Amino acid sequence: MSDKILKAGVMGWPIEHSRSPRLHGYWLQQYKIEGSYLPIAVQPEQLALALKALPAQNYRGVNLTVPHKEAALQIVDHVDPIAQRVGAVNTVVVRQDGTLEGRNSDVFGFAQNLIEGGYKNDGRPVVLLGAGGAARAAIVALLDMGVKELRILNRTVAKAESLAEEFGDRISVYSLSDAKALRDAGLLANATSLGLKDQPPLEIDLTHLPKDAFVTDMVYAPLVTDLLKAAEQRGNKTIDGLGMLLHQARPAFETFFGVDPKVTPELRRHVLGDA
Ligand code: ATR
Repeated sequence: MSDKILKAGVMGWPIEHSRSPRLHGYWLQQYKIEGSYLPIAVQPEQLALALKALPAQNYRGVNLTVPHKEAALQIVDHVDPIAQRVGAVNTVVVRQDGTLEGRNSDVFGFAQNLIEGGYKNDGRPVVLLGAGGAARAAIVALLDMGVKELRILNRTVAKAESLAEEFGDRISVYSLSDAKALRDAGLLANATSLGLKDQPPLEIDLTHLPKDAFVTDMVYAPLVTDLLKAAEQRGNKTIDGLGMLLHQARPAFETFFGVDPKVTPELRRHVLGDA
């Protein structure tokens, strides 16, 4: 491959299911960029080796997916403040001097998806379901949007409590079955893996959620989850999770290839596999 071609990719284990090559590949074509974006299968024990080899292989950088996001934090030479707060890296950039910088664009992706879906912080509390890795990116995004009260509901309450300790007193903690915690909320966001294809369903009582609240789901397979269906049926506005995947890719694409790409309905169809 010629040195002129800009090289990037995504590392994961397994990597076959990643939609990132399809997504970045679409933009490379769209903007007529001489570049490549490859799926790279990397076993967890090989991550340090694989990352450290990037500069010599002329890579501009890579995205990281499961299970590498947390481990990379200890491997890269520099960690940007947002990745530090999330505790995870989803983009590794090869700097001019050959050192590696870890960033996290999931925070941007989550926030941008909400904004484009019409949600604005209206001062009302936000309810977040989940306390794992995905929830951490949502917490950083919501706190940075100025949300005054963030209610975290989780099966394992102790995990939510440790997030409250870490992220401060705007966070309050409830069990996942506490339906009354949805009272007065302006947004409900699912960051658990419940509702994902082949996972158990998310069973949540929406009775107390105001009808004018937004509902979003980080799960995008299926695209319209049972949570989004139930929310739509009672008149809530909904924002699906695909937009988060598409928007989180934008900062990486711009760093690797020099263009801030657009998220369009055609791109959505292409990534879903029916265009
Ligand atoms: P991710 O990186 O996708 O966030 P994770 O860190 O394993 O994955 O977090 C998964 C989240 O889904 C957690 O909030 C988890 O709840 P616990 O903290 O109690 O484990 C939630 N989750 C997963 N399976 C669940 C289930 N069967 N019932 C309730 N919550 C579940």
